[in-house]
Amino acid sequence: MNLSTEYLGLMLPNPLVAGAGPLADDLDGIKRLEDAGAAAIVLRSLFEEQITREQMSEYENIERHGESFAEAASYFPSPDAFALGPFEYLNHLRRAKEAVRIPVIASLNGATPGGWIEYARLMAEAGADALELNLYRISTGPETTGAEIEREAIATVREVKKAIMIPVAVKLSPFYTAFAHLAREIDRAGADGLVLFNRFYQPDIDPEELIATRTLHLSDSSELRLRLHWMAILSGRVRASLAVTGGVHTALDVVKATMAGAHVTQMVSALLMNGPAHLRTVLDDLAAWMQEHEWPSLAGMRGNMSLFKVPDPDAYERANYMLMLQGWRA
Ligand SMILES: Cc1cc2nc3c(=O)[nH]c(=O)nc-3n(C[C@H](O)[C@H](O)[C@H](O)COP(=O)(O)O)c2cc1C
Repeated sequence: MNLSTEYLGLMLPNPLVAGAGPLADDLDGIKRLEDAGAAAIVLRSLFEEQITREQMSEYENIERHGESFAEAASYFPSPDAFALGPFEYLNHLRRAKEAVRIPVIASLNGATPGGWIEYARLMAEAGADALELNLYRISTGPETTGAEIEREAIATVREVKKAIMIPVAVKLSPFYTAFAHLAREIDRAGADGLVLFNRFYQPDIDPEELIATRTLHLSDSSELRLRLHWMAILSGRVRASLAVTGGVHTALDVVKATMAGAHVTQMVSALLMNGPAHLRTVLDDLAAWMQEHEWPSLAGMRGNMSLFKVPDPDAYERANYMLMLQGWRA
């Protein structure tokens, strides 16, 4: 059974990657992930605000929206709210590289063009095998257009690619008007991989206390559908390799993601719920499923459910929409 795959130009023995999150915050956790069969590890994101709190007054956004620095700064968490400070992060990355043989991918969430580049360089120097740019952003200004936001994202990718030699993956949210177009432009800007999708952590409202409440709900397999959909649309249309993040819990989830076109599947919630050893169960189940269904290799299975060969994907999507709604009988 050949489970090997290529992601970001890295040859991996299997498609299971431990996604960005707290599992790899210490060396023990990292070794446990490697022992359980993870093909690569993504460290949690370093946020630019952690690095340059004192420089926040220079933030374009804050100036653009006319907010005072003090007001904006007060929303940001204090340095001790972060699991790893900037220097600790780089040290942790160096030590992680020494501790395991599998690729270690650093993750960066920048806020200004300069911030992205400076820390991308430092992460590459610290030995990261690749960098995942976490482009999580919510634009609340009615005057900011989709085109502006997309231009900024594309420019960030282009600049980071110019600055470092290691592969760059880009983790995106699904909430763009024309996601396929944006994905293609990010691909053209040089991204080596696209990671679909960031989850949005919508706060709830506590109507008694009049506060917004933050609770991070872990995912389940139902979240995979959105990823399958876009993976199937992009597969075969971009040069970058494709990763699914969100809703990967079982071997069947990995099979579906691969058939939709994924080169790797990242897991976080499933490993937080079941422990790193869950990776080994998924790997064993994956091999068993492929054996039973006579798929000798993951590569042979990849993209066989992609929309690439569908002559008119828009019409196909519309037909699916109609069938879904009209098929329901009260
Ligand atoms: C506790 C926690 C911390 C996370 N931290 C990060 C992070 O620092 N950077 C990032 O890009 N994603 C982060 N994520 C998101 C995950 O990498 C992943 O994209 C998301 O949880 C969906 O995958 P899942 O369904 O396997 O959990 C975090 C998720 C969790 C649950």
